[in-house]
Amino acid sequence: MKDDPLANAGTNVVISRGNPKARLLLIGEAPGPQENIKGKPFVGPAGQLLDKILQGGNFDPEQDVYITNSVFRLPPGTDGKSFRKPTDAEVEYYRPFVFEIIRLVDPLVILLTGNVACQSVLKKTGITSLRGQWIQFDGRWLMPIFHPSYLLRNQSREPGSPKSLMWEDIKEARRKYDELVGSL
Ligand code: URA
Repeated sequence: MKDDPLANAGTNVVISRGNPKARLLLIGEAPGPQENIKGKPFVGPAGQLLDKILQGGNFDPEQDVYITNSVFRLPPGTDGKSFRKPTDAEVEYYRPFVFEIIRLVDPLVILLTGNVACQSVLKKTGITSLRGQWIQFDGRWLMPIFHPSYLLRNQSREPGSPKSLMWEDIKEARRKYDELVGSL
């Protein structure tokens, strides 16, 4: 892609997985090393946890969901790290592509995992207060949720922990999804 700030990174283009006709769209951050190899988003450790979370909400990750990211190439790391967070310029460059995916998939419900997806779609961050809140967005219902990588670093299941809040959020996403699909 012309002008892509990550074009010279030498990493692969990783766009999506799942069902393009799904009514639920999930937007992550950027491909990681395993996603870069396999050419599909969320296939590494965070992806395995994501699939379990979706299944916890009774969503089949292949049938009921379409999964993409805010940035379509792995941002290469420095200082011995294999990857880094996408920069603002990278998120901005990919934003029109993310919006085009929203338009083409035409979902009823969108889940934004973590701050980078909020930055891309909502142009704001603050996941701790945004998570679990429904936002009406262009005729769709959108909810920010934690990023699964954050849960991998916070294993507690105590009430109020990131994992327990994620469980509440995926149940609420299921409730809204059923309500919207039921009224079609
Ligand atoms: N984290 C993301 O946000 N996206 C991926 O595809 C993998 C890990």
